[in-house]
Amino acid sequence: MHVFRKRNGKGNGNGGPVIRMEGITKVYDTGKVRVEALRGIDLAIGGGEFVAIVGPSGSGKSTLMNLIGCLDTPTGGDYDLLGEPVKGLDRNRLSAVRNRRVGFVFQNFNLLPQISAYENVELPLLFGSVSAKERKRRTEEVLARVGLEDRMEHKPTELSGGQMQRVAIARALAMDPAILLADEPTGNLDSTSGGDIMALFEDLWRQGRTIVVITHDAALSRRASRVVEIRDGRITRDTGARPEGGNAREALPE
Ligand SMILES: Nc1ncnc2c1ncn2[C@@H]1O[C@H](COP(=O)(O)OP(=O)(O)O)[C@@H](O)[C@H]1O
Ligand SMILES: [Mg+2]
Repeated sequence: MHVFRKRNGKGNGNGGPVIRMEGITKVYDTGKVRVEALRGIDLAIGGGEFVAIVGPSGSGKSTLMNLIGCLDTPTGGDYDLLGEPVKGLDRNRLSAVRNRRVGFVFQNFNLLPQISAYENVELPLLFGSVSAKERKRRTEEVLARVGLEDRMEHKPTELSGGQMQRVAIARALAMDPAILLADEPTGNLDSTSGGDIMALFEDLWRQGRTIVVITHDAALSRRASRVVEIRDGRITRDTGARPEGGNAREALPE
């Protein structure tokens, strides 16, 4: 079977960081309350890194993920994705970036319940105007990649939580994104299926994927090559990029 091109660990052609943030701030202003969710984030993530973003509830992790994935825009600061400034992109360009460059995985899976696993995975390919033949090839390939070749016709309600998250990961991989972004991907899973999902992320990383996972789960963060801790909207710890193949466990004191 033809597999997506193996990444060289150096990113995506231009050799620069996949993500580069400088002085990023985010203020939520509802009129009544003003929340400074991010207070100056400087962060560069290179191709082939597996980064765990950790921190207490309310520290700004999801806000940061939304900015990385271009689901929201910062209040201040600069953000380049794949060497391109995100600032100034119009709605159409932003949605193209989201569809092609970033694969999203959420805590609650975000699958459409009425359609099959196959159709859920095929959706981004439909939006991405991929030909019918290529859609079929890629959908089957990514579903096999996550071990669900025999569950393609099942609807989400006919799958376990761990299987639903696998479908979501397959969907995130379908467009062969430069970066896989996951927000608490094991948060709704029992420890066994959570462990399976972690192992899958680690596998994908070892094959050269760039992965950013937000997690409370210490077992998941230990698999990452780098751990970035956020508190009150600021980075309070960063184990830094590790040499390829190394992981954060080796970098952290026990
Ligand atoms: N859409 C929003 N409007 C107003 N405040 C928000 C919004 N989203 C998040 N916040 C606030 O911003 C802070 C950071 O939230 P969040 O990024 O969700 O943290 P985490 O994911 O680490 O739990 C919290 O104080 C939260 O209440
Ligand atoms: Mg969150």
